[in-house]
Amino acid sequence: MKSNLTYLKKPDLFNELNQNQSTFLAVIDEEVKCHLPDWVKSSDKVFWIKNPEANKNLKTFEQAVEFFLNLGISREAKIYAIGGGATTDLGGFVASALLRGIPWISIPTTLLGIVDGSIGGKVAVNMPQGKNLVGAFHAPDTVYICLDFLSTLPEVEWASGKGEVLKYGFLSKKIFERIIKKDSMDYIAQDCAEFKKQVVDQDFKEKGNRIYLNLGHTLGHAFESTLKIPHGLAVAMGIKYLLKVLSLNERSVEWEKLAQALELPLEKTELSHYPDFSVDKFKNYLLQDKKKVQDVIRLVLIKEAGSCFVKEMNMQDFINHIEAHEDFKR
Ligand SMILES: NC(=O)c1ccc[n+]([C@@H]2O[C@H](COP(=O)([O-])OP(=O)(O)OC[C@H]3O[C@@H](n4cnc5c(N)ncnc54)[C@H](O)[C@@H]3O)[C@@H](O)[C@H]2O)c1
Ligand SMILES: [Zn+2]
Repeated sequence: MKSNLTYLKKPDLFNELNQNQSTFLAVIDEEVKCHLPDWVKSSDKVFWIKNPEANKNLKTFEQAVEFFLNLGISREAKIYAIGGGATTDLGGFVASALLRGIPWISIPTTLLGIVDGSIGGKVAVNMPQGKNLVGAFHAPDTVYICLDFLSTLPEVEWASGKGEVLKYGFLSKKIFERIIKKDSMDYIAQDCAEFKKQVVDQDFKEKGNRIYLNLGHTLGHAFESTLKIPHGLAVAMGIKYLLKVLSLNERSVEWEKLAQALELPLEKTELSHYPDFSVDKFKNYLLQDKKKVQDVIRLVLIKEAGSCFVKEMNMQDFINHIEAHEDFKR
């Protein structure tokens, strides 16, 4: 279940799409219509999505599946999913289920999608009970990475993508150094995509090292849900407060360096920026974390940039650390 990663500029991407025009089927975020060839814009073989995160659900999934079945697709069909992580998650899940699974091609259009969401074959929709609760492992045949899409990305989505990039800074020494040197984001994003590909190629079903990609996500998901902030920013915050509540001060200094080099909006990663923050809601979210096995959580911690490890911790102990930190005392 390995995917190819292919980096290309827009004209080459257009060539690729043009060559597949006669069989083209796609799920596409309306927001990126402006980037696509005219024949795609007017194609009746495209299932367009508006507000992809709000519509990443079973209802839209059913509509998309019916849309493609009504086109009379066969097992030779393949589906392009073009958009941010919410669109590639939905499009990939549709491909995983249609006719028990047909191939798909992922074309991420957000920084977060490029470095994370489009790679690795985890595809899903959200449920009222929580995010990504119904889905599959179904890797795309190819991920086409075209950074030209990012020219229209709003600031808030840049910050979200950079939050996830900060995570890779702790997972890979090479990426850490590139970030600190303020290399071009094009190179950094490609390194992050390659890094994720290498990890998932070795551990597709998350039985081993893939868990490292969850660095910062236990607290991150709780921030994302309770503060209603974008995923990647919440992950950056998740790492920051993981280091703070466990008093890992040297790593906190590195976090600051990475965040500054990436020009993350630092004030938005401070809990004091959110007057409505409820520590009770936050704790309740953690206690319902789907990755929790009984009372024990598996936390990804950092030895040094480029070297992480997993530590099992009793959930109540972890919550005690959180409650003891002054930033959480409200
Ligand atoms: N499958 C995985 O391994 C994985 C990993 C990380 C995140 N995800 C999922 O990805 C989603 C988050 O991804 P995301 O941040 O890309 O969210 P998203 O798909 O919701 O996109 C964010 C916003 O940017 C807009 N947009 C997309 N491309 C644009 C462009 N080029 N120009 C202007 N606007 C554009 C979208 O319409 C949307 O409003 C979540 O649903 C998350 O669960 C999945
Ligand atoms: Zn993430």
